[in-house]
Amino acid sequence: MRIAVAGGTGTVGRYVVDAAETAGHEARVLSRARGVDVLTGVGLEQALEGVEAVIDVTNTTTLSAAKATRFFESATAMLLAAERRAGVGHHVTLSIVGIDTIHASYYAGKLAQERAVAAGTVPFTIARAGQFHEFAGQLLTGMAGPVALVPKMLTRPVAAREVGAHLVRVAERGAVGRARDLVGPRDEVLVDLARRQLAFEGSRRRVLGLRLPGAYGRGLASGSLRGGPDALHGEVAFDEWLRSADHR
Ligand SMILES: NC(=O)c1ccc[n+]([C@@H]2O[C@H](COP(=O)([O-])OP(=O)(O)OC[C@H]3O[C@@H](n4cnc5c(N)ncnc54)[C@H](OP(=O)(O)O)[C@@H]3O)[C@@H](O)[C@H]2O)c1
Repeated sequence: MRIAVAGGTGTVGRYVVDAAETAGHEARVLSRARGVDVLTGVGLEQALEGVEAVIDVTNTTTLSAAKATRFFESATAMLLAAERRAGVGHHVTLSIVGIDTIHASYYAGKLAQERAVAAGTVPFTIARAGQFHEFAGQLLTGMAGPVALVPKMLTRPVAAREVGAHLVRVAERGAVGRARDLVGPRDEVLVDLARRQLAFEGSRRRVLGLRLPGAYGRGLASGSLRGGPDALHGEVAFDEWLRSADHR
């Protein structure tokens, strides 16, 4: 099967590409670094020739609800229009578990993306996953200085590699609307993950837990981002991931 991976150079995208190729598929990477822009459409038509499924794991880094919504709605509209013209039979979008009541900040954009996919005419599957084990590191890298401010957040993190393999299985099965959620093997507190990661790396940076205001902060602290009882569970726990080659 020929699968296009939008965002195939990103944190989870490169694992999607690995998993697709390991399963014997041809993976096409759509990213600006590879000459394809899902916002402007540059390079998209050519990249989708003969493609049967698109897995969208593009991303924008913002806490602004307006910016996140603009990015995810525009990228989805551009992708779906190009997929319709190319005859793509399945659009898979990666979203985030437990965001339904958090109509704020970045999650407002993810909810808008889910609505845009569901309103489109390309058969689709929305697959939600928990925060990646890589998430704490993404936050720490984005913040300079000896003290890192990390939001108070309950999570059930999962290895991005396991999410990548899951998304390829979802693409293979065909469009079902909504896949089962995927979360990690155990409950964690984001502040602890950040501290364990820094200790493992021998860093002397300190971590301060920060209760964020508003609906976003309440959502992070509520535990809803750990997913429900019906979720699939990844096998790799955070500390195992820390010691693995995937933690670079
Ligand atoms: N991080 C988490 O814990 C987590 C948990 C669950 C779900 N998710 C979801 O997983 C998805 C991927 O997240 P990530 O952390 O893997 O993202 P990431 O590491 O930031 O990678 C983003 C990817 O999107 C591509 N991209 C961005 N703008 C683009 C554009 N205009 N045209 C084409 N490609 C573009 C980037 O490539 P170029 O820069 O080369 O364009 C890159 O390949 C997101 O939708 C996120 O909501 C994340």
